[in-house]
Amino acid sequence: MNRREALKVAGTIALMTAVSAEAKMTEEHMNRMEMKPKDPANMEKGELKHTPQITIKEKDSKGYTLVEITTGQGGIIHPSTPDHWIDFISLHADGKLIGKNTLEPEVSRGATSFYVKLDKVKVLKATSGCNLHGIWSSTLTV
Ligand SMILES: [Fe+2]
Repeated sequence: MNRREALKVAGTIALMTAVSAEAKMTEEHMNRMEMKPKDPANMEKGELKHTPQITIKEKDSKGYTLVEITTGQGGIIHPSTPDHWIDFISLHADGKLIGKNTLEPEVSRGATSFYVKLDKVKVLKATSGCNLHGIWSSTLTV
């Protein structure tokens, strides 16, 4: 093996090590515990920051209604940094999963939307996952 080939192999090994370390770090930093506010009628700042807010918007010409979900209530926006971010948001309609988005740190923050046929739906439930502070939910009666 000449010097150039040796450098190429060393570079590949370094890249593989970096990728696997990043994947391991990501797995280790994912808190998947289900969280609930102590007093839902009187949430603390940290609870407001993680609780998804569901907003019903306009219906389109095909009968789908825009449902927006933002992680954070009361004007509080959850951070999106490499070490702390909302990694997914999902939406259930009457207990059935109808949409789930994964989110990347820094370039996106905890918000998403879905177009949903709401005609027969009674309850929407949004769920947000914070890599550090667990999984938070809120419901909205339609
Ligand atoms: Fe958080």
